[in-house]
Amino acid sequence: MKVLVTGGAGFIGSHTVDALVKNGYEVAVVDNLSNGRKENINKDAKFYEIDVESEKLKRVFESERPDMAIHLAAQISLRKSVENPMFDARQNILGSINLLQCCKEFEVDKIVYASSVAVYGEPKYLPVDEKHATKPASPYGLSKLAAEEYIKLYHRMRGLDYVILRYANVYGPRQMSDGEAGVVAIFTDRMLHNKPPVVFGDGEQTRDFVYVEDVALANLLALKNGKNKVFNIGSGKETSVNDVFGKIRNILGINIRSIRAEPKQEIRRIYISNEKAVKELGWNPKTNIDDGLKKTVAWFKERQF
Ligand SMILES: NC(=O)c1ccc[n+]([C@@H]2O[C@H](COP(=O)([O-])OP(=O)(O)OC[C@H]3O[C@@H](n4cnc5c(N)ncnc54)[C@H](O)[C@@H]3O)[C@@H](O)[C@H]2O)c1
Repeated sequence: MKVLVTGGAGFIGSHTVDALVKNGYEVAVVDNLSNGRKENINKDAKFYEIDVESEKLKRVFESERPDMAIHLAAQISLRKSVENPMFDARQNILGSINLLQCCKEFEVDKIVYASSVAVYGEPKYLPVDEKHATKPASPYGLSKLAAEEYIKLYHRMRGLDYVILRYANVYGPRQMSDGEAGVVAIFTDRMLHNKPPVVFGDGEQTRDFVYVEDVALANLLALKNGKNKVFNIGSGKETSVNDVFGKIRNILGINIRSIRAEPKQEIRRIYISNEKAVKELGWNPKTNIDDGLKKTVAWFKERQF
């Protein structure tokens, strides 16, 4: 069974490729390395340095003939999507359409799509389940939702099977710690360099943090289970930014204080219901936040030297 993974040099993509290889799948990776790294790519996977929007994608399908595709390639920055919505739409919507065209032409059986809880916008109730209305609060959320709708359309028009996974806040080893990264990567990197993390507002804003290997497992399960459905992928637990800071500080065993900055315009509280994924995908997040943070901090520490 051959799987084509777009974004396979990135954070979640590279863990997904590792899990696929470990489970005996043949893997071809497509990534333009705009945010991914070559060293992340599993040695047993074939690599094509190509943009998902490019004409060349067709040639990859021609030679690889994948049975299934997992689509993770995207511009992931919310801020960039606000500053440059055209760029966001090209990468996330047009790139997805180009991939869908190839899936149709080369008779791919199923596509698994990495969507986001950003499609929901400000929660009307908690935990957010899959029935919650979609009202994105950013061009990024909207481009992820638009790609979801194109995928559903290709199912209706062309019979392409799909699973859409709406990830919560994913964290873990290999996450980039630059300005656009998740709070775990940014805080860990700063504290390891003895720099105080910056907390926007009172730090009591909450998110649903899910460990990257659990997300990779959800991607694998979605290849087989949950035909033509949408699933939330998260821990189902609510953790505040202040708690994340405290936990990382305890793991590092250092005495550092955070810096307060003006609150950002952002969602105040979110966590999701993962019941549907547990029941219908057979998925269970195995790593709790304390263990996940320990593994993440260990990885960042090791990388320093
Ligand atoms: N990290 C999270 O918390 C999170 C949450 C929800 C959804 N997601 C989604 O999961 C997917 C993976 O995110 P990630 O956190 O691993 O980010 P990432 O930036 O590490 O991975 C994305 C990969 O896609 C590649 N890429 C970007 N644009 C491309 C293009 N046009 N053509 C080919 N390759 C391209 C990048 O080089 C990178 O390797 C994305 O679709 C993202 O929207 C992530």
